[in-house]
Amino acid sequence: MDGFHGRLTKDGIRIHKPEDFAGMHRAGELAARILDDVADRVQPGVTTAEIDDWITAEVERAGAISATIGYRGYQHASCISVNHVVCHGIPGQKILKDGDILNIDVTVIVDGWYGDSSRMYAAGRIGRKAERLVEVTHDALMIGIEAVRPGNTFGDIGHAIQTYVEANRMSVVRDFCGHGLGQVFHAPPNVLHYGRPGTGPVLEEGMFFTIEPMVNLGRPETKVLADDWTAVTRDKSLSAQFEHSVAVTSTGVEIFTLSPAGRFHPTWKDA
Ligand code: MF3
Ligand code: CO
Ligand code: CO
Repeated sequence: MDGFHGRLTKDGIRIHKPEDFAGMHRAGELAARILDDVADRVQPGVTTAEIDDWITAEVERAGAISATIGYRGYQHASCISVNHVVCHGIPGQKILKDGDILNIDVTVIVDGWYGDSSRMYAAGRIGRKAERLVEVTHDALMIGIEAVRPGNTFGDIGHAIQTYVEANRMSVVRDFCGHGLGQVFHAPPNVLHYGRPGTGPVLEEGMFFTIEPMVNLGRPETKVLADDWTAVTRDKSLSAQFEHSVAVTSTGVEIFTLSPAGRFHPTWKDA
């Protein structure tokens, strides 16, 4: 025991205590609530900077702190990744147009605990292929989450995601991964979204981490633009991502970033 919220495994993964879950739920709920409410602001004609400004104000209004402002020189409260942008899109003067798909990724700090989540949004009416990509990516995340239980391994999570994505003739991005979190933003382990069953660290009750698969319609390769952040598909194919912050419990999994309004699933607007 190191006297600071539980022990570390041999892989350096923190095992949190039962009382740590409440803080993660508060942080996760705020991130999820902001992602719920921002949906009404995603429209053709809006700039990604306008969306990010609204998120900045919401984080402040909640009395929370943005984890991304000031993180390694990043200056925004969200990453907004449009169409072939895989992740870490920088909000700016780009105007959304009808048919765009975009990921909005928000990480907040509430009383020292980190809540990290992202989901996909549509500007106006999107095409069939984009719709399928978004659906498969959402389902890939949820299938990965279903593999979270004590005794399974991180390889089991990655394998479940990869198998599902590739069965749908899409590809899993290898260049970015999920991560441990808690009272820090990025901690061990790297949560890969591909892999072999039974490989990697064994899941234990009290582990907190994100699962955040990025899925491309084309090839998996990415490149980072000259701004040092924006990651895009090399073949310019569309990319999608969903992210939850989760915990391993004694019986399975708990999701910290569940949508209070039931807006996480990409088809919620059709209902
Ligand atoms: N929220 C992202 C993640 O899922 C990290 C964003 S870091 C930033 O890990 F600096 F680009 F914002
Ligand atoms: Co994350
Ligand atoms: Co994130």
